[in-house]
Amino acid sequence: MLSKKNLLILPGDGIGPEVMRQVYCIIEWITKHRTITFNLSESLVGGAAYDKEGNSISDKTMQDALNSDAVLFGAVGGPKWDNVERHKRPEAALLRLRKEMDLFANLRPAIVFDALVDSSSLKPDLVRGLDILILRELTSGVYFGEPRGIQTIDNNEKKAVDTQSYTTSEIERLAKVGFDLARKRDKKITSVEKANVMETGKFWRETITNLHQKGYDDIKLDHMYADNCAMQLIRNPKQFDIIITDNLFGDILSDCAAMLTGSLGMLPSASLGSIDEKGKRYGMYEPVHGSAPDIAGQDKANPLAMIMSFAMMLKYSFNMDEESLLIETAVKNVLQKGYRTPDIGEDSAKILSTTEMGKVVITELDIITGK
Ligand code: IPM
Ligand code: MG
Repeated sequence: MLSKKNLLILPGDGIGPEVMRQVYCIIEWITKHRTITFNLSESLVGGAAYDKEGNSISDKTMQDALNSDAVLFGAVGGPKWDNVERHKRPEAALLRLRKEMDLFANLRPAIVFDALVDSSSLKPDLVRGLDILILRELTSGVYFGEPRGIQTIDNNEKKAVDTQSYTTSEIERLAKVGFDLARKRDKKITSVEKANVMETGKFWRETITNLHQKGYDDIKLDHMYADNCAMQLIRNPKQFDIIITDNLFGDILSDCAAMLTGSLGMLPSASLGSIDEKGKRYGMYEPVHGSAPDIAGQDKANPLAMIMSFAMMLKYSFNMDEESLLIETAVKNVLQKGYRTPDIGEDSAKILSTTEMGKVVITELDIITGK
């Protein structure tokens, strides 16, 4: 039976639309060769939406996201909107989508492809074969904690407040995702916080330890302070398999992990909610990189993180593991053949534009499947 999935596509700003265009080509390929079809709709988000609709995400687009089977998100932001008030800023759209769809589990896999070992800022031996997963809490912590704001104390003095807070259930639901993923990987997880200075850190550690004892003791659990984790990621990243951490530390550590792989342009991500009674689970898929305004519109951006985010969607939202793997294999092969975008380019490599990179991935899909 042909199944039809509703996809909401939000290309966003900067290089977002350029990398998303390559995903459209992949969708076309999948629709032609596989038993799945997509109902595609596209809306503005971020600065593009602010310029046209007066807000970085309209209520209609938010509702469409809630009605969709999955959301594909490009990137948002840019200097043009630096002075826009906070709740209308491009980033606010991303935070609203995460919060209202309750996408608490953010999976950021950092994988070093053999062909890219030399693009990493670390020595090849340290990163060869690296395959780690940062599991970031995405709907709570200091990103959303109240109270927050800037108050005036007196004429000369103001005070800014952000609140870091976590509840038992917020930590536990993320940890369950982590332990379940660990069972399918190396059965090893490192929980990261600052239990030495923060109440939320101490509580995070206790909560994860309790849950671990209650039914996940087949998984090896370690704890690490966030500053040490940043250092260990650079010193010896292969000691990790899954890193589970809060919203802010996850933001920072995933950028560190991204650079191990050679380029921010290589990192996909999946943001998942819980599974409801009907078996439906919200999912949003986006590259970890931003809108890169400096190279926007030049057909230079690396579309592979966006393409691999699409592959994650097939796997996590639609259980299409085979198709997902197919795309990953195609990406691996084109890199093996020496094709590069400028961000991962080496002197001898065949440097391609965004569009050309999309095309060689499609050609590779044809080759692998004998089309
Ligand atoms: C990320 C980004 C976002 C974040 C920004 C754009 C709000 O850095 O997804 O890592 O801080 O979460
Ligand atoms: Mg970030």
